Amino acid sequence: MIEFKNVTKEYTQGVFALRDISLTIADGELIFLAGPSGAGKSSLLKLIAGVERPSSGIVSVHGQDVSKLNASSLPFYRRKLGLILQGQGLLLDRSVLANVMLPLIVAGAASSEAEIRARAALEKVNLSDKAEARPLTLSGGEQQRVAIARAIVNRPRIILADEPTAFLDKDNANKVVNALKAFQSAGVTCIISSHDEQLLEQASRVIYLSKGAISDSWTSALAA
Ligand SMILES: Nc1ncnc2c1ncn2[C@@H]1O[C@H](COP(=O)(O)OP(=O)(O)O)[C@@H](O)[C@H]1O
Ligand SMILES: [Mg+2]
Repeated sequence: MIEFKNVTKEYTQGVFALRDISLTIADGELIFLAGPSGAGKSSLLKLIAGVERPSSGIVSVHGQDVSKLNASSLPFYRRKLGLILQGQGLLLDRSVLANVMLPLIVAGAASSEAEIRARAALEKVNLSDKAEARPLTLSGGEQQRVAIARAIVNRPRIILADEPTAFLDKDNANKVVNALKAFQSAGVTCIISSHDEQLLEQASRVIYLSKGAISDSWTSALAA
């Protein structure tokens, strides 16, 4: 379970990214985090990932207060998460397979074991035939699915995807969302942020953010 209790994030004095957010996300839920640019979506995901700390309030994940994790325990905590954050691109000088193997190698896996698991992850996002290719020879949608494979190769219990469909056409956006949805059936909690209203049609639960606060619909999020 992921729980936010009265969470506020103020980056610099007077700049509030999140205001008094309280919410609960159960294990295995598929959540769309919606809201216009600047609403606080990335900040909310970063608080779950322990990349940022709340200014006040508590973020807890599986009973652990994330802000109490210290520098040595944070990397272990993050390995339980599948992170698809913005600006974490693929390494262009190596193959798709090598990119997906990397988190396992960093975690100390033998390369034979890492390769088996990386190929299995690529199969899950339907990219087995691109394993030996370089990232730049893939379409934007395919590259984003490689990023998903890389995020799930450690078998995380929680996947955080920050605008994974930005810059994709509808067809590719749907493929990315379907790839993420497939993990939900395995009991993985998945939070996908998006400012694309069309994508929300697929969601079982939507959390709307507007100027750092939870809003009850897309219309009121935009109007705020
Ligand atoms: N590192 C930062 N330092 C200062 N302000 C920030 C920082 N990150 C985000 N903000 C501000 O917090 C607000 C929410 O940003 P963000 O969480 O990125 O929203 P979204 O992802 O919905 O576009 C914005 O006003 C943004 O300018
Ligand atoms: Mg963002």
